[in-house]
Amino acid sequence: MTATVFTGIAELVTNDPERDDLLGVHEQAALVVEGAGVAWIGPAAEAPPADAAYDLAGRAVLPGFVDSHSHLVFGGDRAPEFAARMAGEPYAAGGIRTTVAATRAATDEQLTAHVARLVAEMRRQGTTTVEIKSGYGLSVRDELRSLAVAHQFTDETTFLGAHVVPDGTTPEEYVDLVTGPMLEAVRPYARWIDVFCERGAFDEDQARTVLAAGAATGLRGRLHANQLGPGPGVRLAAELGLVAVDHCTHLDDADVDALRDSGTVATLLPGVEFSTRQPYPDARRLLDAGVRVALASDCNPGSSYTSSMPFCVALAVREMGMTPAEAVHAATAGGAAALDRDDVGRLTVGSRADVLVLDAPSHVHLAYRPGVPLVAGTWVGGRPI
Ligand code: NIG
Ligand code: FE
Repeated sequence: MTATVFTGIAELVTNDPERDDLLGVHEQAALVVEGAGVAWIGPAAEAPPADAAYDLAGRAVLPGFVDSHSHLVFGGDRAPEFAARMAGEPYAAGGIRTTVAATRAATDEQLTAHVARLVAEMRRQGTTTVEIKSGYGLSVRDELRSLAVAHQFTDETTFLGAHVVPDGTTPEEYVDLVTGPMLEAVRPYARWIDVFCERGAFDEDQARTVLAAGAATGLRGRLHANQLGPGPGVRLAAELGLVAVDHCTHLDDADVDALRDSGTVATLLPGVEFSTRQPYPDARRLLDAGVRVALASDCNPGSSYTSSMPFCVALAVREMGMTPAEAVHAATAGGAAALDRDDVGRLTVGSRADVLVLDAPSHVHLAYRPGVPLVAGTWVGGRPI
């Protein structure tokens, strides 16, 4: 195994929970990567020798972003719908059907090439772990090929057959399909199962049915909930002890208490409120209540067509009451918690060497310099991208 030492790190964000500050910052640090993992962290003056050395000349180093929520497998785009929204039209879940038609019409090769392009876009912006959902196929054939494509890019794949009820079927028939033949077909390619629990999509009972069927085959649950209005989804996620519940834009006090008590991660997706021109979720309220918070892109052609975690961090700081440190933590360690992973979202001895080098001296610049391409380099599992 070859070892590489990174020196000249003005600020090394480790997210080490053993340290006193949230980000576990080391200043004037060095980091040694051996094989795919982190082998040593400490003061630059004490760095051990290695096979190769990089002087980062005063840059900041962070764990790569963990984007725990994306919908990258789709055909077409919905730019006209976005333009109409910016001219005053409201967002509605029904737009999903436009993308379903385009996804069904795309070949496997086209879908694969498109996901590859979006994943490359994410990598250039510092994302080193990405979750990818299905949900624009809504037939056995198209959900299966969506997940087979997603699985080529990540192990964190999620079956979202229960996104909306497709045309030409009743909700009852469709839930039977999702929990029966569709689940059986996609099972080898999925790790998680998700439901869009929202008015116009699936209600609480349907969500319970879908999650229970998934659990019976070994898939772990997550939910889209409380995005467009108040609803039962967040409390259901807490009751079932799900690892994460995503959106969390419309919460009452009981929802917040339930999240705190269950330890379910609230994944906030500020790209959605940006792109649908809705009020942002109140991250400050969640953090002050002791709820664990993650940030993710929700990259999809309808409600949030951004692949940029730096953009989400900047929005969370400016619009959601998070400090830069809290937002960076939520985009790294928070995302890892939302995927129940402890090998990523941190840089500690033994963790995966997913390293993000910023062309800036500290993590604060991610929000302080919004829209600026600050990612100077990304290593995934010890390999430069
Ligand atoms: O996470 N909320 C449901 N699904 C996606 C949006 C889907 C779409 O509009 O295409 C989301 O926001
Ligand atoms: Fe989503």
